[in-house]
Amino acid sequence: MSLAYFKGKVVAITGGSDGIGLALTEKLLAAGAKVATCGRNQTKLYDLQVKFPGAPLLCVVADVSNYNDCRLFIESTLKQFEAIDILINNAGISMKALFADADVEVFRKIMDINFFGTLYCSKLALPSLIKQKGTIVGVSSIAGYRGLPGRSGYSASKFALTGWLEAIRVELEPDNVHVMWVCPGYTRSNIRNSALNENALEQGESPLDEKSLMSPEEVANHILIAVQKKKRTLVLTGKGKQALWMNKLFPALTDKMIRKFFFKDGKLVK
Ligand SMILES: NC(=O)c1ccc[n+]([C@@H]2O[C@H](COP(=O)([O-])OP(=O)(O)OC[C@H]3O[C@@H](n4cnc5c(N)ncnc54)[C@H](OP(=O)(O)O)[C@@H]3O)[C@@H](O)[C@H]2O)c1
Repeated sequence: MSLAYFKGKVVAITGGSDGIGLALTEKLLAAGAKVATCGRNQTKLYDLQVKFPGAPLLCVVADVSNYNDCRLFIESTLKQFEAIDILINNAGISMKALFADADVEVFRKIMDINFFGTLYCSKLALPSLIKQKGTIVGVSSIAGYRGLPGRSGYSASKFALTGWLEAIRVELEPDNVHVMWVCPGYTRSNIRNSALNENALEQGESPLDEKSLMSPEEVANHILIAVQKKKRTLVLTGKGKQALWMNKLFPALTDKMIRKFFFKDGKLVK
């Protein structure tokens, strides 16, 4: 499907320096969109800027868990491109720790980034999105429909995200602002390396074999088509869809299957 819809549109994407956000940024620039993005790591943003010399690309160092950083990101975008047509709230982190072992800081950090980061950016961009009759996208997860062990804080943040987006979708309908969320399944990216351990520190590496996972480029393609079609939600990967149906129809059996998938000899493995 052509991405001509995005030509000339201003798209603000949080976390565009890696993984799914990077793939979205690259595809949108190729489609003729003006793109603003942010992340915490200056080097990754610099590398991105250097990769697209002369492109309508704004890279801002900003941590979405900080309201003032979000203000800087959104205000710089408006200054540079004069409007925001589409806001893709993509920045996110995960965790790998059992609730019993994890410091409460793990949960606070994840909620601050995944939920409040989305809320801050959406709030700050809202006047322009209303003016443009634009679109707010939340990048959720299968874990936003089905709680996953070892990722209880991540699941909580994504459930909060989708509940909040569902509510504001109805509120913003008279303003013609479209609100949607997308749920990628397992996707090749850095998210498992940056996932927090029980001490709220990045775990650094993950045992999961990433080769068989969906590529971030394919995920980005699905997301952009869904944005174009103004879909309500998008659930990705066959396994992801299967898990949601199983959970709806046979929740107790799904508990057992999930336990088998995530634990080995009583230990959290995935
Ligand atoms: N990969 C998967 O399997 C999967 C599955 C379902 C849903 N998702 C969701 O997809 C989204 C993107 O994840 P990904 O897999 O592409 O992860 P990724 O490869 O780790 O990329 C995450 C991006 O977000 C940025 N970021 C992280 N924390 C940030 C913060 N506090 N402020 C600003 N930027 C921040 C990162 O840059 P810095 O580190 O420099 O800040 C990076 O650019 C997330 O919301 C995730 O929950 C991923």
